[in-house]
Amino acid sequence: MVKGLAYLAAIVCLSGGGFLYLSSMAGLSDAELKAALPERFVKEVSRGELIFHMGGCAHCHSHSDNKTILIGGKGLETDFGTFYAPNISPDKETGIGAWSDADFVNAMREGISPEGQHYYPSFPYLSYAQVSLTDLLHLKAYLETLPAAHGRAPEHQLFFPFNIRPALAFWKVLAQRDVPDNRIDDSSEGWERGQYIVNGIGHCGVCHTPRDVFFVEDKSRPFMGAKALKDGEKAAPRIAGLDADKILNALSEWSGAIDERSSMYLVTLSYSHHVPLEDHEAIADYLARLEQ
Ligand code: HEC
Ligand code: HEC
Repeated sequence: MVKGLAYLAAIVCLSGGGFLYLSSMAGLSDAELKAALPERFVKEVSRGELIFHMGGCAHCHSHSDNKTILIGGKGLETDFGTFYAPNISPDKETGIGAWSDADFVNAMREGISPEGQHYYPSFPYLSYAQVSLTDLLHLKAYLETLPAAHGRAPEHQLFFPFNIRPALAFWKVLAQRDVPDNRIDDSSEGWERGQYIVNGIGHCGVCHTPRDVFFVEDKSRPFMGAKALKDGEKAAPRIAGLDADKILNALSEWSGAIDERSSMYLVTLSYSHHVPLEDHEAIADYLARLEQ
C-alpha cells in the first residue's frame, strides 16, 4: 500500500503534461462521430452480436446464468479492491438506454462517461479503443435488442488511494497508447484480422501482457504472460509465439485444455460457442507468429 501511495504521488507530479493531454481528450460529439462514419453506414445487429461475444461483455456485466441481462452487479475482485460492473442494459434510468452513439463510443474508446468522469481500467477500454467505430456501433445496436433491466450495481469497494477516481486522469496519461491506423473491419483476412481481434475487442493482453510498476501493460513484452489481478488466482501464461494448435485448443471448450476454475474459461466458452472457427484460426495465426 505504501508503494501504491508513492506511485500515486509520482503520478500527481506528472500532472503538467497530463492536463495538456487530457484537454485534447474530450471525446467525439454526435456530429463528429457521424462525419467519421462511412457514407450510408447501416448498423448490423448480427455483427454486433459477434463483437459482444468476442468482447466478453457478459462475463462482467451479467450477474446470472442469463447472459443477455446486463444488469451488472457482479463483483470483480482484485488486489486494489472489488469492482462492480454497472448496468449496461437498455434501461433508460439505470442502464445506458438513454445514451447517444457518441456517449457509447467515448466510453468504449476514451474511458470517459457522458458526465466526463474517467473509468477504471477494470473496464478494458484501452483495448476496446482499437475497435473500429463501425464495429462499436454494430455492438451498440445489438445491446439495444437485449432486455432492459432496472437496478444499480453496488459502489466499488476499493482500497485507498485507488478509490480516488480523478487520479485516473494521470494514470491514463501513463497508459496512453497509439491507436494504430489499421482499424480494420470484418473484411480483412488472416493475420491482420487476428491482430485486430486480439489487440482490440478480444482484450487478450489485459490478462496475458505483463504490467509495469504503474500497472500499465508493458508493450515491449506483449502477451508474454502475467500474474493474475488477484493474488492466488491462476496466472495467464505466455501466448506469444505459442503453437497454433495450443491456441486453437484453448479457444474450444471441448478440447478440455482450459481449467474451469481459471479466468480463461469464460473466454473459452464465448469463443467456442459464438465465434466462428475462421476467427480462431486468425487469432492463432497472429499469436503464433509473434516473437517469444
Ligand atoms: C473485465 C470486466 C469487464 C468487461 C469484460 C467489460 N466491462 Fe464494461 N465495465 C466494467 C466495469 C468494472 C465498469 C465500471 C468502470 C468504472 O466504474 O470506472 C464498466 C463500465 C462500462 C460502461 C460504462 C457504464 C456506465 O454506466 O457508465 C460501459 C458502457 C461498458 N462497461 C460496456 C461494456 C461493453 C460493451 C463490454 C464488452 C465489449 C464491456 N463493457 C466489457 C467491467 C467490464
Ligand atoms: C480474464 C483473463 C484472460 C483473458 C481476457 C484472456 N485470457 Fe487466455 N488465459 C488466461 C488464464 C488465467 C489462462 C491459464 C488457464 C489455464 O491454465 O486453465 C489462459 C490460457 C490461455 C491459453 C493457453 C496457453 C497454454 O500454454 O496452453 C491461450 C492460448 C490463451 N489463454 C489465449 C487467449 C486469447 C487468444 C485471448 C483473447 C481472445 C485470451 N486468452 C484472453 C486468462 C485470460
